[in-house]
Amino acid sequence: MPDYRSIVILTGAGISAESGLATFRGPDGLWEGHHVEDVCTPQALARDPELVHRFYDERRAKLAQVEPNAAHRALARLEREWQGELLLVTQNVDDLHERGGCGQVLHMHGELLSALCASCDGRREWRDAMPPGSACPVCDARALRPDIVFFGEMPYQMDRIDAALRNCDLFVSIGTSGAVYPAAGFVQTARYVGADTLELNLDPSAGSTYFHESRMGPAGELVPIWVEEVLAD
Ligand code: OAD
Repeated sequence: MPDYRSIVILTGAGISAESGLATFRGPDGLWEGHHVEDVCTPQALARDPELVHRFYDERRAKLAQVEPNAAHRALARLEREWQGELLLVTQNVDDLHERGGCGQVLHMHGELLSALCASCDGRREWRDAMPPGSACPVCDARALRPDIVFFGEMPYQMDRIDAALRNCDLFVSIGTSGAVYPAAGFVQTARYVGADTLELNLDPSAGSTYFHESRMGPAGELVPIWVEEVLAD
């Protein structure tokens, strides 16, 4: 394996699948039971706040019943033991990377355990159900919403992610279908600057052909093996 100095890792719902959280696309996916536009857009929140809040309340409750798996723990080991620069970007709104031991996780699509005030932009840890009209602990406005990046909204910290991609020499994509931009385009940015690109996924993603190497299988098996390879060098 080449002597890498800077790695960017992107994870998606597939890394949490073996923990028991449903992915979005596919036969049992969350988007099979719901229309994206009913629960994951600013318009949906304005039109039917009960439905949107219930959707995220259910997912927050489910999160309390699952545990991180071997893939989350292996990435935490990489963070602890690898000497180079590492940025872990996740599209996931669960906290399984953190519970698996990762200290630095960039949640580009927001977090289930965070509440965002639409009035003051304040954020607070939120572990319970969030009835529509819940009061903001910062400014008291009844404008709390799940801290989730809805379709049509800008993902978080794109400047930081873009800078890291332009500086990396390895980009690794784990457990994501490559269906949602801008994350789906990260591989192209990384290739543009000459980085190696590796995909670890159950099935080939939409952008599979952009990767120098694709390994197919469950993240719980593939990720620990890959981390072992990086740390062995
Ligand atoms: P998807 O549900 O679109 O894709 C999950 C991917 O994980 C698929 O390619 C599966 O083949 C793969 N997969 C399933 N089980 C796996 C396993 N055990 N090991 C490895 N891979 C596995 O989820 P995402 O790509 O994360 O956005 O979806 C991207 C975004 O679309 C989400 O962040 C969400 C959604 O709409 C928002 O909610 C804003």
